[in-house]
Amino acid sequence: MKKKLLSVLLAVSMMATALVGCGGGSTEETSGDTTEATGDAAEDTDAAGDSASSGDGVQVGIVLPTKDEPRWLQDQAQFEKLLGDAGFTSQVLFSQGSSATEKTNVETLISQGIEVLIICAQDASAAAASVEAAKAEGITVISYDRLITGTDAVDYYVTFDSVAVGQAQGQYIIDNAPEGTGIPLYLYAGAATDNNAFLFFEGAWKTLQPKIADGTFVIANSSEAVAVQDKNELTRDEMATIIGQITTDWDFNVAKSKAEAHLTAVGAESKGDIVILAPNDGTARSIADVFSTDTDVTSYVITGQDSEIASVQYIIDGKQSMTVFKNTNTLASDTVTMAQKILAGETPETDTTYNNGNIDIPSKQTNVDVVTKDTVKSLLIDSGYYDASEFTGLE
Ligand code: BGC
Repeated sequence: MKKKLLSVLLAVSMMATALVGCGGGSTEETSGDTTEATGDAAEDTDAAGDSASSGDGVQVGIVLPTKDEPRWLQDQAQFEKLLGDAGFTSQVLFSQGSSATEKTNVETLISQGIEVLIICAQDASAAAASVEAAKAEGITVISYDRLITGTDAVDYYVTFDSVAVGQAQGQYIIDNAPEGTGIPLYLYAGAATDNNAFLFFEGAWKTLQPKIADGTFVIANSSEAVAVQDKNELTRDEMATIIGQITTDWDFNVAKSKAEAHLTAVGAESKGDIVILAPNDGTARSIADVFSTDTDVTSYVITGQDSEIASVQYIIDGKQSMTVFKNTNTLASDTVTMAQKILAGETPETDTTYNNGNIDIPSKQTNVDVVTKDTVKSLLIDSGYYDASEFTGLE
């Protein structure tokens, strides 16, 4: 009993820390019809050590990277809905771009007695220590969307086909580039701490590289990419060097200032009709805003991913060329199905494996689709993913 009281007190104090770390509004508990499920959970939580107790336990803990990108708010909403509907108690915490907050969030959830941890890591390698702490308490760890690397403590991985995301971006650029050769190509990437940034870049590079090697495209903003432009398969280190130069850190402001600096640095031969590999929607909008105000840039093709509402509007308005549709409803629902199986003591279904540097992790992978002006309606509206009323000028 004393132990239980201690763990509750610990949980409360950790929650307070997490709230401070997240700007005071990051803790969300699903309500739903969960009383019974909580009671059942308490009987099942032996593996979680001494921290769960009847009535105060949380069965599924979810840690997401940031509230500042719509993408993760969609994931949050889906988790809360699906887990609530399934009658599970759950809690979603946001790391707000900080590995330290992420660690505190995981500790908070461990102290709440979770049996399953679903975590989208802020930093692929820094998160290893947190999931190891969870594993040591008998918690099953699901790496969500972003792979946690360099540890044995990840049980499952649920992800989109991230290499395919990059391939779709590269192929779109090839198919929609202006006629001719010597077309300036601007490359941008995600955060170097996110394993996905490598997978997206790998897919895009493999697709674009033959067209760089044959002179169709000329890299305008990365000497490191130029240095390896004859190689189709890059090593992780080579990619890290390039990403180090063209990273946006998944931050709109970094994307904006890099784009401004690039346009200031280049001459007229790198302007005119150009193409831009932008890694996701938030950064694409920032970069597009910069390029569209340069009077020497006469046209641009720019990629994205996530199908964020603001970017879908940019696509309708002709300010962003494409986005990749990653159906977060499917990803969250696959993950909840996995958690349900785990909580029932069964083995969840997987369809592939990902190696995280230490082990092959059983994984569930989801395909992606390309959204352009022509497919907004069929892919995003007719499917019910978004409501037409969220957009203007939709045909
Ligand atoms: C996700 C993207 C997201 C990016 C920035 C990546 O790991 O896969 O969907 O746009 O992180 O948050």
